[in-house]
Amino acid sequence: MYKVLVSEQLVPNIHLLKIEAPTIARKALVGQFVVVMVDEVGERIPLSLADWDAEEGTITLVVMQVGTSTRKLAALKADGCILSLAGPLGLPSHIERFGTVACIGGCYGIGAIMPLARSLKHLGNTVISIIEARSKNLLYWQDKLQQVSDELIFTTGDGSSGYKGWAYDPLKEMLEAGKKIDLVFAYGCTFMMRLISEATKSFGVKTRVALNPIMVDGTGMCGVCRVSVGGETKFACVDGPEFDGHEVDWELLATRRTTYLEEEIRSLQRFECQQWYFETSKAMEARVERKA
Ligand SMILES: Cc1cc2nc3c(=O)[nH]c(=O)nc-3n(C[C@H](O)[C@H](O)[C@H](O)COP(=O)(O)OP(=O)(O)OC[C@H]3O[C@@H](n4cnc5c(N)ncnc54)[C@H](O)[C@@H]3O)c2cc1C
Ligand code: FES
Repeated sequence: MYKVLVSEQLVPNIHLLKIEAPTIARKALVGQFVVVMVDEVGERIPLSLADWDAEEGTITLVVMQVGTSTRKLAALKADGCILSLAGPLGLPSHIERFGTVACIGGCYGIGAIMPLARSLKHLGNTVISIIEARSKNLLYWQDKLQQVSDELIFTTGDGSSGYKGWAYDPLKEMLEAGKKIDLVFAYGCTFMMRLISEATKSFGVKTRVALNPIMVDGTGMCGVCRVSVGGETKFACVDGPEFDGHEVDWELLATRRTTYLEEEIRSLQRFECQQWYFETSKAMEARVERKA
């Protein structure tokens, strides 16, 4: 069992969990992830390491609620427990002094790019962080990213804060204006990573993306996380999760990510019904006790 030390909502639908996991914290490297099983009936899901502290023996995860397991994780309170945590998994990001690097994050990727931007900055790179959200109430960690970036650009789809548009808009503008960017990293939803890769391709700017196919074991055994990169089959859990965005078969990735959509919807409906039943029973019991 792994104890939850901190559980807090960062913005609507996105949750931070700080977990006691000393062995993982000691070995963690930038770009790696863990596979989490919330309880005995939970599925195994991969989550990026958004931070860790080897001395304290803790890891930090940023969880976006999309289905049953992520909802269960977000519902955990401090002092709650996670049944199983495997990691750190995946190949670490290759980091060196590249020059000017753009770190782009959206959704849970805003958390996941944090250790990357910090390490790049530490090695003397000029770091431009670009984060995106639909609206300003969905942006988080601007202060943390500001500290490890030479420039922080935030974009909102509705224009409520920062640049009006999506992360690829200011990136494309910079490239069109002739700004020299040596490398781009993009972490977050598949569609955003695809758009970023398409935007940088014509400018010949190398782009690394952290792919997010469905994973089960996370150790190269089950084959579920199969992706195609440069015409070759790769397993994202052991050959990635980071790959060259210009070489990814994005159509295949998008299709494979929806393989279990019907089952996922049924699972979420069942979970919501159980939650409703649980809350209602509790409320009824409390009312009976009050009357007695
Ligand atoms: C290397 C990697 C790192 C990731 N890091 C983060 C992170 O830091 N924070 C975060 O919120 N999300 C992260 N994800 C995505 C996260 O794993 C999925 O959102 C999660 O598994 C959904 O589970 P669910 O039960 O809540 O939703 P479900 O209803 O089961 O699924 C919703 C959608 O999530 C995807 N998904 C479902 N099961 C899995 C699975 N076992 N593996 C991967 N994707 C799945 C599918 O596209 C599915 O349609 C990462 C994915 C990968 C591969
Ligand atoms: S998750 Fe099983 S091979 Fe990658």
